[in-house]
Amino acid sequence: MRTAQTAMAASNSPVADVVEAARGIFSKRPPPHKITEKDVEGILTSLERITVAQVGLTKKAGEERCRTERLLRMSPQEQRKSRPPITYHHIYECRDFTVGIFCIPENCDIPIHNHPDMTVCSKVLYGKVHLEAYDKAPDLESSMQALEAPDTLYARKVRDEIISEGDGPVACFSEKANIHRFYAEESCAILDVLGPPYDSGEGREIAYYREIALGELGGLGKRLGNNVVVLQEVSPPNDFVVEGRPYTGEQVGED
Ligand SMILES: [Fe+2]
Repeated sequence: MRTAQTAMAASNSPVADVVEAARGIFSKRPPPHKITEKDVEGILTSLERITVAQVGLTKKAGEERCRTERLLRMSPQEQRKSRPPITYHHIYECRDFTVGIFCIPENCDIPIHNHPDMTVCSKVLYGKVHLEAYDKAPDLESSMQALEAPDTLYARKVRDEIISEGDGPVACFSEKANIHRFYAEESCAILDVLGPPYDSGEGREIAYYREIALGELGGLGKRLGNNVVVLQEVSPPNDFVVEGRPYTGEQVGED
C-alpha cells in the first residue's frame, strides 16, 4: 500500500489543497519528463486528509451503508433492482488535470482500463474496493510465444488488494500499474486525480481490456508464470455506464 508521508502546508480547504498539489506537478512548465512516486507525494498527502463531509458525500455514504445492510436480506434479483448507477461527481478540470469522484455500487466495477502517458492518484472515501493493477510485459512476447489473437498483450498483475477508507491513497504511473480495475466489494466512493486528462487528439485515448481465462489460452495458459496474464482489448461492456452527478462539496476556485 502506497501511503503518503510528506508533510505539506494545509489550507482551510482540503479539496482546494488537492487541486493545488495537482497543479504543482501537472501544470509544471516544462512538464516533467516522467512523473515518479516522489513527484506525487504532495497529491497523496492532500488526498489523505479528504473526508466524505468535505466532498458532500456524508448523506450518500450513510445511505449506502444502510442499503448494503438491507441487501443481505434481499434476493439477487431484488439486489440488482435496488442498485443505483455508477456516478461521477466532477470537482475540477483544467487542461493539465482533472479531479472527481466515482461512486460505485457493490458488485459493480470500473472494468480493466488504461491511462496512456498519464498518472492517477486515488483515495477511497468510503466502502471497500478490490484493486487490481497490471504492467504491460512486452518482454514476454519473445521469451514466451508471440500472441496470435488480435489486440492482446502480456501483462503482469502488480497489485491485487482490497482497499478501504482507512487505507492511504494509491497511485498509478505511465509505466507502472497503468492498467487497472476497481471492483466494489462494498458500495464505495473513489476520489481520482488524473493528469494529464484523456485526449484522443494527443494519443491519450482510454482502452478497455478483459483478462483472458487460462482455459482459453490452451497450452500457453499452462506455461504462464505467476501473476502473468493475457489481456485483450475489448469494447466496454454494454452495462458499464457512468452517470454524471452534481458535486456538492467544498468548492474550488478557478486558477
Ligand atoms: Fe482508472
